[in-house]
Amino acid sequence: MKNISLLVNGQKVVKQVSDRTHLGDFLREQVGLTGTHLGCEHGVCGACTVLSDGQPIRSCITFAVACEGKAITTVEGYADDPVMSLLREAFTAHHALQCGYCTPGMLACARDIVLRIPEADEQRVRIELAGNICRCTGYVGIVAAILSVLNNLRHHPDANVQALRQSLSTPKSASNAQDLKEKFTVFEVESPPLTAQAQPTIESSAAPITQSAVLQTASVKNLTHIEDTFDIAFDSNAVWQFMTDLPAVAACLPGAVIEAQDGELVKGRVAIKFGPMAAAFVGSARLEKNDATFTALLKGSGQDSLSQSRASGDVQYRLQTLGAAMTRVHVQLAYSLQGPLAQFSRSGLVQEFVRRMIADFGKNVSARLTNPDLSQALNAKAIHPASILIALIWSKIKRLFGGKV
Ligand code: FES
Ligand code: FES
Repeated sequence: MKNISLLVNGQKVVKQVSDRTHLGDFLREQVGLTGTHLGCEHGVCGACTVLSDGQPIRSCITFAVACEGKAITTVEGYADDPVMSLLREAFTAHHALQCGYCTPGMLACARDIVLRIPEADEQRVRIELAGNICRCTGYVGIVAAILSVLNNLRHHPDANVQALRQSLSTPKSASNAQDLKEKFTVFEVESPPLTAQAQPTIESSAAPITQSAVLQTASVKNLTHIEDTFDIAFDSNAVWQFMTDLPAVAACLPGAVIEAQDGELVKGRVAIKFGPMAAAFVGSARLEKNDATFTALLKGSGQDSLSQSRASGDVQYRLQTLGAAMTRVHVQLAYSLQGPLAQFSRSGLVQEFVRRMIADFGKNVSARLTNPDLSQALNAKAIHPASILIALIWSKIKRLFGGKV
């Protein structure tokens, strides 16, 4: 059992809680706030969504102990929220609830849409709501309610809502980034400390970069494997030089930020947003490379402070020269997730998501090689679950017809 202290709906709450109690149970059973509903308890239905420091999170896959020091807002605490007062009226006017089971989570998600995507149209609202299941309404009233709030705010801007939007869009200052870094617990199992003495060299590295090395790791850790390739219209030397420059590689990987580097060792974070699921893994990675064979192995591990999920894995890449100005990059990814997010690691959607990330990474590498002055805005492009779902269905249809579609 651990003592935790957090703000719930503006009130300080100090309780003893077991390590494995999730936030949903904690709120309902120990704080007595039963407005937070639990449906699937797998992070899928969205009924349990609450706000943590103003951001929607799934309380059923968030450990209560991970919320130490955070401000949690549940449906009982929305009374003074300027967006929620608009949504409350709109949900009533558009009959956006029936049994009400999904409503606490729907409201948290709707608030996020109103604040984050002021220009959202019906299609975008429906896509954003994809992570919240309603068994009664058919979604028509819910979508109409959210659209009416968005529409009203376009014609009659509200200063309080504007201030909330502003606080969301303000880029994190260096000190905020530092705060964030300090809040994260760095999970280091495989990588040595980031010191010059500990920096490995290819000559001293015990494990050569071979496919069998990756497969061997896989059999030990039961990793999930993904293999893919992308082609780049540059000669192999240029691509190799780029692919072994860790800051350059990180700048092409959506959501990745390097915070410290010492030779081939880096510490940083990778933020992943997949529909309503968001995680920010903080950890470290080490690059082992073989310049003679154009092969490299990036080994890393990290932890998401909120869900306490841990990720570890290897990215192996190998360059194949296809021509004087054409290189194929073979990528083998082997990863494992432990903790509440582990249930997603093997799903087809997540694997397709990772493939999309690899494809986007390839495009970003190509763009950066073409124009080295491109800003890190390359990272910003979001990958949406709906497009992934369509891609997944399409690939299954193609497989069904033997690839002849
Ligand atoms: S209860 Fe379904 S997402 Fe949490
Ligand atoms: S209103 Fe019943 S589940 Fe949404």
